[in-house]
Amino acid sequence: MKTFLTIEDLTKELNLVKASEKTSGLVPTMGALHQGHLSLVKQSRSECDVTIVSIFVNPTQFNNPDDLKKYPKTLDQDLELLESNGCDLVFVPSVKEMYPTKPELNISFGAIENALEGEHRPGHFEGVGMIISRLFTIIEPTKAYFGQKDIQQFYIIKKLIDEMGIHVDLRRAPIVRESNGLAMSSRNERLSAQERAQAAVIYQSLEQAKQKIVSGVKFPSVQQETERIFEGQSGMDLEYFEMVETKEFSSVTDFKNKEIALCIAVNVGEVRLIDNILIFS
Ligand code: PAJ
Repeated sequence: MKTFLTIEDLTKELNLVKASEKTSGLVPTMGALHQGHLSLVKQSRSECDVTIVSIFVNPTQFNNPDDLKKYPKTLDQDLELLESNGCDLVFVPSVKEMYPTKPELNISFGAIENALEGEHRPGHFEGVGMIISRLFTIIEPTKAYFGQKDIQQFYIIKKLIDEMGIHVDLRRAPIVRESNGLAMSSRNERLSAQERAQAAVIYQSLEQAKQKIVSGVKFPSVQQETERIFEGQSGMDLEYFEMVETKEFSSVTDFKNKEIALCIAVNVGEVRLIDNILIFS
């Protein structure tokens, strides 16, 4: 496994990959790697000749400076995990390397940008769009891997690719969960053991809601029930629980769309967690 700190060095290596007509898979991450990230690496390895993982805590996508400061950093451990999971190339740029000047370009995504995560984290998706388009331009991967865990981010990136005409095959991987159902997340490291156990209720509430919806219960009453579940949980604060279509992430109450997502954001103590479950009609 080779690690690169600069665009120049990475580009030299990638030119060799391209010259040998090998396919490449990019897995963009912010580090603090867990089994969820590694499932993307595994998928890339099974579909591409060369797997590239980027590790960059992207400051432009954090609307909360405290969240950025407290974002877990475990680089040595990340590199060990990547090496033992068969990653080929790792790109670990500095902020100066990725943003030599303060970006002034404004990428906006329309309605999807202002729903759910976009509404609660203003500017977040603009920052995600900025860093991913920069990584696509530098790396030009054949395929790029993103998790369903961040379902709205996935569709933001789909829009970026479709509207910019970027030649990359977008791949989506299912959510990897802890044994108690909690979606794996780098932020889970900031939870106490008790909070981690308590946070299992997030996925339980999604499962329960999905069953109700599928059996014909109307969303408003499912939403009220979910709100009641969280009112009964001390130290947990439900930020949103919505049923949306996955084009613009606008609220829906029925199944006219092919793919519906139940999306949830919960503050567990000081840690903000998101999760979702899909319903296909
Ligand atoms: P990060 O949170 O590190 O996640 C990197 C990738 O791993 C994302 O595609 C995310 O959806 C996926 N992922 C996270 N937890 C997962 C889980 N439990 N199961 C499956 N996949 C999971 O998302 C970001 O970083 C950043 O916004 C980024 C795209 C790198 C841009 O900065």
